This record gives sequence, structure tokens and C-alpha cells, in this order.
Amino acid sequence: MTSIGIVYHSGFGHTAALARAVAEGAAAVPGTSARMVFAEDAAADPAQLDGFDALVFGCPTYMAGPSAGFKEFIDATSGIWLKQRWKDKIGAGFTNSGGYSGDKLNTLVQLMLFAMQHGMVWVGLGLPDGGSSSTSTADNVNRLGSYAGAMAKSDVDLGIEGIPESDVATAEALGNRVALAAHRWRQSGEASANGCASAPRVTERGEQ
Ligand SMILES: Cc1cc2nc3c(=O)[nH]c(=O)nc-3n(C[C@H](O)[C@H](O)[C@H](O)COP(=O)(O)O)c2cc1C
Repeated sequence: MTSIGIVYHSGFGHTAALARAVAEGAAAVPGTSARMVFAEDAAADPAQLDGFDALVFGCPTYMAGPSAGFKEFIDATSGIWLKQRWKDKIGAGFTNSGGYSGDKLNTLVQLMLFAMQHGMVWVGLGLPDGGSSSTSTADNVNRLGSYAGAMAKSDVDLGIEGIPESDVATAEALGNRVALAAHRWRQSGEASANGCASAPRVTERGEQ
């Protein structure tokens, strides 16, 4: 069983709904388990995440960056960072905010750099921009045109019922892709451990 942990913060429930969509997208891949872990609980005991094959980080964008609740979790992982215990674990991220941009990219970049500091292997969204042509509609998956991770826009005056289906589908697609990547990554790790990895070969110019 390949296990995916979705570590998320949400002040008002919107990002929690998207975290659930990521989990459902991951669990749809046969042989995958997905568990949602609230950032506050993860901050209290980050070692509980050691056993996951992949971690997906998600938070709302507050004041142009990760919410303070998620940053608390980030800072709580410094002991794990020191020992590089999450090195080579698959990582991915998503964020949600009120504005179309709202400076969400800064949040995704911070989540990605956090994973990089841990030596993790980042998996992006892997979907084309769903909002870039004259025929694009708000119903398109990845309508906000993100590559580094999943983005969602929730109107600030509506509850979770106001989150567009397309953004929920985008979050599901991220979970699905992470699960598939984690399966492949795990299989290749098992193959290397069994001595099946091909011998490293370096070629120079002119060599085949
Ligand atoms: C303190 C605070 C700061 C915010 N900053 C931004 C921001 O920089 N950009 C933006 O587009 N929306 C911003 N918002 C709106 C939230 O991102 C939006 O309401 C989001 O859906 C909240 O997600 P949550 O329900 O998971 O907390 C902010 C909201 C709060 C409460």
C-alpha cells in the first residue's frame, strides 16, 4: 500500500474541502491510502508523517503567503530537516485564496522550497493551462493556469459550497498524480534495492 499524507491548514473550511478532494483523488488510485492531517496536529508531532510515501502540503494564501497556521507546522519540522528524514519523499502542494491571483504563486513557491529544504522530490500539477484561450470556461480543470501545484479561488463571501467544481476537480487531479508518482517512485526504489537498477553510464560527445 502506498500512503499519501495531506497536511493542510484552513481557517474557514475552504482549504479543508480542497484537501479532501486531494485525498479522494489519491485514494482513487488502486493500492493507495490517503490521510488528512491538520497542520496544528502535524506541528505537535511532525514525526507522525515519517511513514508516508508522499506528503501533499496545502494552505490558504493569507497576506500573500502560507497562512500562519501552516507556517507553524513548517517551523516545527526543523528537527526532521536537520536529520533529512524526509529526503526522497514525494512532495506536492496546493493553495486557495479569494483573488484570482491573490499572490497564490508565492504560497506554492514557499511550499515547494520547504519541500526542497527537506530534500523531497516535488511533483507539479502536470495539467495544461485551462484558462488561457478564448474558448476557455470557468468549468475547465486548472482554470487558474497553475503548474507548480493546484490553485483554487474561493469567493470570500461564500462558504465551501461556493468553491467551483473545476477547482475541486483540479485538487483531485493533483492527488491522483501524486499517488501515481509515489507508486512509480516506490517501485523504482524497490528495484534499486534489489540490484535491478541499470549501471550508471556516462557518454561523451560523439559516443552513442
Ligand atoms: C488573514 C487573511 C489574509 C488573506 N489574504 C489573502 C491574500 O493575500 N490573497 C487573497 O487572494 N486572499 C486572501 N485572503 C482570503 C482567503 O485566502 C480566502 O478567504 C480563503 O478561501 C480562505 O481559506 P480557508 O477557508 O481555508 O481559511 C485572506 C484571508 C484572511 C483571513
